[in-house]
Amino acid sequence: MAAAGSGSFQDGRIASKRLMMLVALLLVSCCLGHGFGDEDHVEVEGIGSSCMESERRALLAIKSDMYDPDNWFSSWTGKDCCGWRGVACDNTTGHVTKLDLRYPDTYDVRDISDIMETMGGSKVNPSLQELKHLTYLDLSMNNFSHAPVPTMIASLVHLEYLNLSNAMFDGPIPPQFENLSNLHHLDLHGWYDDLHVDDLDWLSRIPSLKYLDMSYVDLSKATNWFYVINSISTLEVLHLIYVDLPYVPSRLPPFNLTAIATLDLSGNFIITSAMLSWLSNATSLENLFLSGCWSLTIESLQVALGALSNLKGLDLSDNSLEGEIREILNNVSSRGLKHLDLRSNQLSGDIPPGSLRDLEYLDLSGNSIVDVHILASLGNLTNLRHLELWGNSISGEIPPTVGKFVRLEYLDLSSNQLSGDIPPGSLRDLEYLDLSTNLIVDAHILASLGNLTNLRHLDLGGNSISGEIPPIVGDAVRLEYLYLSYNGIIGKIPQSMGNLSNLLELHLSGNKIVGWIPPSIGNLTNLVMLYLSSNNIVGCIPKTIGTLIHMKVLYLDDNQISGKIPETIGGLQNLQVLYLDNNFITGEIPATIGGLRNLLMLSLSNNLISGPIPETIGGLRNLQMLILKGAELPAWLQTQTQLTTLDLYGVGLSGNLPVWFSNFTRRLHRLNMSSNNLQGRLPSAPQLMLDLSNNSFIGPIPPSFVISTGLSLLSLSHNRINGSLPPSFVICNHFRSLTYLIIT
Ligand SMILES: *[C@@H]1O[C@H](CO)[C@@H](O)[C@H](O)[C@H]1NC(C)=O
Ligand SMILES: *[C@@H]1O[C@H](CO)[C@@H](O)[C@H](O)[C@H]1NC(C)=O
Ligand SMILES: *[C@@H]1O[C@H](CO)[C@@H](O)[C@H](O)[C@H]1NC(C)=O
Ligand SMILES: *[C@@H]1O[C@H](CO)[C@@H](O)[C@H](O)[C@H]1NC(C)=O
Ligand SMILES: *[C@@H]1O[C@H](CO)[C@@H](O)[C@H](O)[C@H]1NC(C)=O
Ligand SMILES: *[C@@H]1O[C@H](CO)[C@@H](O)[C@H](O)[C@H]1NC(C)=O
Ligand SMILES: *[C@@H]1O[C@H](CO)[C@@H](O)[C@H](O)[C@H]1NC(C)=O
Ligand SMILES: *[C@@H]1O[C@H](CO)[C@@H](O)[C@H](O)[C@H]1NC(C)=O
Ligand SMILES: *[C@@H]1O[C@H](CO)[C@@H](O)[C@H](O)[C@H]1NC(C)=O
Ligand SMILES: *[C@@H]1O[C@H](CO)[C@@H](O)[C@H](O)[C@H]1NC(C)=O
Ligand SMILES: *[C@@H]1O[C@H](CO)[C@@H](O)[C@H](O)[C@H]1NC(C)=O
Ligand SMILES: *[C@@H]1O[C@H](CO)[C@@H](O)[C@H](O)[C@H]1NC(C)=O
Repeated sequence: MAAAGSGSFQDGRIASKRLMMLVALLLVSCCLGHGFGDEDHVEVEGIGSSCMESERRALLAIKSDMYDPDNWFSSWTGKDCCGWRGVACDNTTGHVTKLDLRYPDTYDVRDISDIMETMGGSKVNPSLQELKHLTYLDLSMNNFSHAPVPTMIASLVHLEYLNLSNAMFDGPIPPQFENLSNLHHLDLHGWYDDLHVDDLDWLSRIPSLKYLDMSYVDLSKATNWFYVINSISTLEVLHLIYVDLPYVPSRLPPFNLTAIATLDLSGNFIITSAMLSWLSNATSLENLFLSGCWSLTIESLQVALGALSNLKGLDLSDNSLEGEIREILNNVSSRGLKHLDLRSNQLSGDIPPGSLRDLEYLDLSGNSIVDVHILASLGNLTNLRHLELWGNSISGEIPPTVGKFVRLEYLDLSSNQLSGDIPPGSLRDLEYLDLSTNLIVDAHILASLGNLTNLRHLDLGGNSISGEIPPIVGDAVRLEYLYLSYNGIIGKIPQSMGNLSNLLELHLSGNKIVGWIPPSIGNLTNLVMLYLSSNNIVGCIPKTIGTLIHMKVLYLDDNQISGKIPETIGGLQNLQVLYLDNNFITGEIPATIGGLRNLLMLSLSNNLISGPIPETIGGLRNLQMLILKGAELPAWLQTQTQLTTLDLYGVGLSGNLPVWFSNFTRRLHRLNMSSNNLQGRLPSAPQLMLDLSNNSFIGPIPPSFVISTGLSLLSLSHNRINGSLPPSFVICNHFRSLTYLIIT
């Protein structure tokens, strides 16, 4: 499985969520409480620390407009505002000088829905301008709901650090920011491209700027950008990612960025060869990011790379560069480079011997490399920690030199045509290993797991591995993600699997696994997803499964599982998806199923389930999809307000539809009741996808049978429908999205 994203240079909110950022508490020791003539100066008893009353009130007003679901502001009580979280005061004057309101975003890997979460809106309270002595202001990562960037920030003229990144502001950056002449860090990194600057002139009046990030701010009208940036000779770090830079005529001014260390112009399409030769004078440059620039050629890059002898990081990914890797590397200084990203180009060949000795991070994924020699040519890069080569066409055996990467922590060779094995006893530091979608047949690799005690992520899916999972797998105790789906794995799931107590996801679908699900599965108390579909698993679902309270997704379909559904299943309070179809499950569905309060999808079809469907299913208010077989149309369906998909294909329903049915179907997007023996009139409210074929409905299509404009499938075939079509069928415009209309 190829990892998406762009390595360590990913930006954006989601990427930073993944870092599980924990914002450092600003524990600031404050200050001597002797009065300085301010009337509102408050002295606090005990340890000398103080806070201006007017500033304290301003802070409380600011807090009142901030979204705070997790009570991050709980320390904001009492008189001593200098001790509040995110606040710091000058220890001689007592004024508030630092305000850090960065939203303390955390990302919980267990919570797949978290990424979709919307964050409540905040507002910038006007009292902010009373904090006149601020030198540090961070409002990043909040949701200011597309409000304009507050111009009043420009009055905080002592600011040295201003961070408004990812804060969902909208509109122009106020040119009044030119008043912030003390700034040395300015981070305006946008969120989509809601922010824009039409004239960057104001920026040239901030004389000592060292750090500037305007990524994702629309600069397409700022035609003077090049001259403005070049005039700020103090700049050390410049990020202008995806800002739609306007074209610069090739007569460029003398190079003036003598302090520049990091330059990121990724995602701009106008990086000309003139600009690259101009860059040759940036001899202080350590990190150059030109990902997704598209206009680059190897020839123009060679000139710049030949001159930049201090480079430590180089990102030329996503550029459609065509040629040999060595054409680029020959001009890169052989010492010093630690980070090289050439992902998603059309490069081939290998690494020239003796080059890149200090390399720690190498990404050559998504290129046109065919020769397995590339892996041997990397043999001397003993400092390598991170290597990605997925999505090439490398064929052959994994060479033993791979074992020389003693420091390797991350290895992704997926989606190639590799065979062979990882040399035993090597790669002890490995945390992430992805060899999926290759031609590996040997199960030895699973045996070496016992030595890979640091491994957290292992993906061997989509190979042809045909052995058994050895019990030693239980020794890889750090594993969080184990993906062995779509191989030819035989044998049983070893009992020792229950020792992998850190496991979050276990994927074993599409193999030839036999035997029972080991009861020790109940020891995997952190498990969130369990995929065992399409194997030959027999026996009962173990009772211990009920202890997996974090489980969200459980696929046991397409096996030979028998016995009753254990009552303990009701313990999976977080379960959202449960597929048990195509097994030999017998008995009644336990009433405890009503405990699965978060269930969205439930599929039980093609089993030997008997008895009534428990009414407790009626309590599952989030259910969106329900696939039952061998069931009667139960009245509790009426109470399923979230249900949008209902599949009752061939479940033996007969008779007239109940009176409540038409009203009920209004909520559905997709209804399949074909191949039953339903009689009587058609229900009156067709939905987006409706299949009522193969029944015994009679009479005309009711006039109320309005075809909605979004209709994509309507099948009424094989009934006894007669009469003329209702008027709504004749207006062709209605059928724009209709793919199938079957009325016979
Ligand atoms: C004030 O803070 C600075 C730096 O944080 C420190 O060096 C200095 O000693 C402090 N002064 C007093 C009076 O606490
Ligand atoms: C931001 O807040 C507004 C309410 O002010 C809300 O409508 C919107 O969905 C939020 N956006 C995100 C991305 O959370
Ligand atoms: C600004 O805030 C963002 C998000 O909180 C952070 O990633 C970034 O490093 C900050 N910028 C600076 C210059 O500190
Ligand atoms: C910026 O500075 C000018 C001159 O000192 C002043 O007139 C103006 O009010 C300031 N603007 C803001 C928004 O503070
Ligand atoms: C170069 O930088 C200095 C400030 O250090 C500035 O005064 C000068 O105008 C800049 N030159 C150009 C050509 O922008
Ligand atoms: C680069 O530096 C060289 C030598 O210092 C100088 O001759 C040349 O004009 C500079 N080029 C630019 C574009 O500044
Ligand atoms: C780049 O490397 C090639 C091959 O080593 C060399 O011929 C060429 O002169 C170099 N170009 C520059 C601009 O350094
Ligand atoms: C590794 O380094 C040695 C000695 O510097 C050299 O002879 C050999 O060719 C290098 N191997 C590779 C694959 O670069
Ligand atoms: C584990 O490492 C030891 C020592 O290097 C080695 O002898 C053994 O073959 C390795 N076992 C496996 C299964 O790779
Ligand atoms: C691992 O699992 C096996 C079989 O379930 C068990 O006998 C053994 O004690 C476990 N080892 C550890 C370290 O928990
Ligand atoms: C693991 O599961 C087995 C079988 O359910 C049980 O006997 C054993 O005590 C469990 N071990 C741990 C460490 O929880
Ligand atoms: C139709 O369903 C809605 C929502 O479930 C309900 O409030 C309403 O009473 C029903 N109408 C009839 C006629 O049953």
